[in-house]
Amino acid sequence: MSRRPNEEMKSKKVPEGTISRLFVYLREITELAKISIHTISSAELGERTNLSDAQVRKDLTRFGQFGVSGSGYDTGKLKGALEKILGKDRTWNVAVVGAGHLGSALMAYPGFEERGLVMVAALDSDKKRLGKRIKNVTIQSVDRLGEVIADKKVSIGIIAVPATDAQEVADKMIKAGVVCILNFAPIALAIPENVKVKDIDLSRELETLSYFLVNGAERAGMNTE
Ligand code: NAI
Repeated sequence: MSRRPNEEMKSKKVPEGTISRLFVYLREITELAKISIHTISSAELGERTNLSDAQVRKDLTRFGQFGVSGSGYDTGKLKGALEKILGKDRTWNVAVVGAGHLGSALMAYPGFEERGLVMVAALDSDKKRLGKRIKNVTIQSVDRLGEVIADKKVSIGIIAVPATDAQEVADKMIKAGVVCILNFAPIALAIPENVKVKDIDLSRELETLSYFLVNGAERAGMNTE
């Protein structure tokens, strides 16, 4: 199995917004395929995903011609094509570094596997945690990071250590061959260009909601004092 991200996606520099929408189309098309709906127009797909048909067409034509003239898209073909484009036609191995509150919760979540993301390793520096099992994975010493990442063919590394240790962990992951990192630590990592990092900041997401609470409350005439 290749550990590199989809070469097609990389070379085309597809905007993240488009990629997110492709996942939404894929979910919708998968549901349609289950109920034996074999074709769908861009307008219908747009309606089901709250997007304009122009947006749907623009997103999909970027990757080829999936439409069947006059009858819309063939859902089976489109599903297969989207799965290939998004790397959903295979599984990807994931390692979590930092098996504390957050790392353990992520390891235990069954939903990743359903989406082709397999948690294969958990690494930590705290001796008290080593040897414990989360689902079918045993927490190992972070000293073995390089070896474990190579052995388990890890493509995606999740950083769930304190901010003070995150850069060091990222450097080790990259040296070991990881090309995609999901970073939960509140720090901007210095990363080479060929590595993709996604920073997750739940506090910022919550703060954004507070803005909507204030504005929504004002619109509704509620007392916000
Ligand atoms: P925690 O203290 O429960 O877990 C951290 C784990 O990392 C511990 O098991 C510790 O032994 C391990 N660790 C420390 N240094 C290490 C190293 N060099 N190598 C390997 N393991 C190491 O902390 P928690 O609550 O799980 O948070 C983890 C990180 O995630 C923190 O940076 C925190 O700020 C961040 N966080 C981010 C959130 C977000 O929305 N982005 C939400 C919650 C936490």
